[in-house]
Amino acid sequence: MAYIVPELTDYSAQSLLKAFADAKLAFRDEMRAITSEQEWKAFRDRWMARKNGLVTQINDQLKAAPKEAKRELGQHLNGLKQFIEKETNDWHEFVEGGTRDLSVHFQSVDITLPGIRRPIGAEHPVIKTLNEIVSIFRKLGYSVREGPVIETDYYNFEALNFPPDHPARDTQDTLFIAGQESKPLRERLLLRTHTSPVQIRTMENIKPPIRIVIPGKVHRNDPPDASHSPMFHQIEGLAVDTNITFGDLKGTLDHMAKELFGSGVKTQFRPSFFPFTEPSAEMYVSCFICGGSGMRGAEPCRPCKQTGWIEILGCGMVDPNVFEFVKDNGYDPKKVSGFAFGMGVDRMAILKYGVDDIQLFFNGDVRFLQQFG
Ligand code: PHE
Repeated sequence: MAYIVPELTDYSAQSLLKAFADAKLAFRDEMRAITSEQEWKAFRDRWMARKNGLVTQINDQLKAAPKEAKRELGQHLNGLKQFIEKETNDWHEFVEGGTRDLSVHFQSVDITLPGIRRPIGAEHPVIKTLNEIVSIFRKLGYSVREGPVIETDYYNFEALNFPPDHPARDTQDTLFIAGQESKPLRERLLLRTHTSPVQIRTMENIKPPIRIVIPGKVHRNDPPDASHSPMFHQIEGLAVDTNITFGDLKGTLDHMAKELFGSGVKTQFRPSFFPFTEPSAEMYVSCFICGGSGMRGAEPCRPCKQTGWIEILGCGMVDPNVFEFVKDNGYDPKKVSGFAFGMGVDRMAILKYGVDDIQLFFNGDVRFLQQFG
């Protein structure tokens, strides 16, 4: 028989105890009979509906009670509410709740009952973009190398042809690890500002020819805003062999841009400066959002700042001074040449997915990340 809230006349402690025990038992019996989400919803409404739900009805009784009984009634009611709220909060929690014997609710052998859908994780958009870029290079015969995020001054700067006190170091907004003053400069630790140190680490260990890509985290002392984060990701590339030319660099990076953004994009190389490459360039791709026109209908195109071109990476021919540091492992600058490049993965992901704030990648909001599932 369905439970009905009794009219209380006796407010003694004993009678209150019995009345609430009856309510709990009735609730539990109804709960045990549930076999579907629909039934659970009806059950939830029957007990919890603001207007005339059973809990509301019990609450109304409280109003009619004599003053002396109010405190005790209130306590009982809170206990009951907690008990009920737990079971009527969420269908999935209800089904998965470990506190009750599920076989009472659902015949566990009935394999025709629909399963419970569990959300499956998704690859993070930055990692997805990173993997995509790496796989473009793997198909070209590149292999993957990694290196430490906490790096020494030697690998992050010196061996990349940034001499001590050279102003080019200022461009890197470095986060240094404190308390290292007693060590020689080249041994001092810092958070690597780019993935380029792994160029040197690899050349120290592997003889030419090499073709590698280096994905990883890097840090710079940039305050977080919509387009900056003190931690971000890069992919570095390095190819060294006899007779590698700037033409090889252009062909390789043009291929990557077309694979990543579509075969219709054009690339452009503009002169730039990096201490470890000479000559150096920045590569631009024609804006794949506005098609290079700089306008989206009547609106100015924001990603390319109306220029029709987007800068996506730095690159150049490996500077002979860099080879000097690994000369003994077969990298004689008179015999080998190479190209290197480095790109920001987060920026690529922003462009690819039309995200307007880099912080969304790192603050872990499931509502954002779910969209990439
Ligand atoms: N390391 C450079 C940067 O972080 C990018 C780069 C890599 C440039 C390799 C040239 C060659 O800005």
